[in-house]
Amino acid sequence: MKANIQPKVTLIGAGPGDPDLITVKGVKALKKAHVILYDSLVNRELLNYASEKAIKIFVGKRKGYHSHSQDEINKLIVTNAFEYGNVVRLKGGDPFIFGRGAEEIDYIESFGIETAVVSGISSSMAVPASQGISLTKRGVSESFWVITGTTSERKLSNDVYLAAQSTATVVILMGMSKLNEIVTLFKKFKKGNIPAAIIQNGTTKNEKIGLGTIDSILDVVAHKKLTSPAIIVIGEVVGESARLRSFYEEILSKNINLEYC
Ligand SMILES: C[S@@+](CC[C@H](N)C(=O)[O-])C[C@H]1O[C@@H](n2cnc3c(N)ncnc32)[C@H](O)[C@@H]1O
Repeated sequence: MKANIQPKVTLIGAGPGDPDLITVKGVKALKKAHVILYDSLVNRELLNYASEKAIKIFVGKRKGYHSHSQDEINKLIVTNAFEYGNVVRLKGGDPFIFGRGAEEIDYIESFGIETAVVSGISSSMAVPASQGISLTKRGVSESFWVITGTTSERKLSNDVYLAAQSTATVVILMGMSKLNEIVTLFKKFKKGNIPAAIIQNGTTKNEKIGLGTIDSILDVVAHKKLTSPAIIVIGEVVGESARLRSFYEEILSKNINLEYC
């Protein structure tokens, strides 16, 4: 470690995609960074807050680029902190919501390096909100579950099975490759008529949305060619959104099972 270097790592949540959805505290920390390691879901415009001299390192997965393993990222964070001092780890959404933020903190602190976390606005809340979907609503939904569709063993989380039996709003991240299984589960618990929305690249100019019910959502996804990154929102609150309500009123009144919005 160079003399006068005070290693410190700050994990910052970059928000869901819209660059205005970062916190003021996050912007202040970005301005002070000597090195920024950022992920693929981070809006690049946020790097404009950093000093021109700051070193910016992309560590996400992107077609045509080497994708860094979590081990490589951990090591890069630590070596840069010892070399340059103030490192910012800029992560999509919130670092502690399926962001591996806790793993990074544990690794960094094992080297005696000071860490800080600046929460971000998670896609799990901001993306539904951008479509007027209130995850809880008096008289409609008393809770919401945020679940990963794909566990570290690449399986569908058992929590989806539990959530499908509840009356909660269910928000599933990283679930597109498991959508078939998810739909089968909800049908098993007689939830075929429950509204479901899939929102891809939410809060960005590339946002795409597909609306339907559990019974129709696979056809909607195929028709609209929806892919990751997307979140799946299942629950009566989807049909209660002021922006989406007319769509659902129409399918209910005509008893149409499949519609494209
Ligand atoms: C590794 S998780 C990271 C989640 C992040 N920490 C957060 O709080 O939003 C990545 C998943 O989040 C969801 N996601 C993140 N940003 C999104 C966006 N703008 N629109 C839709 N889904 C998004 C997708 O399900 C994506 O596969």
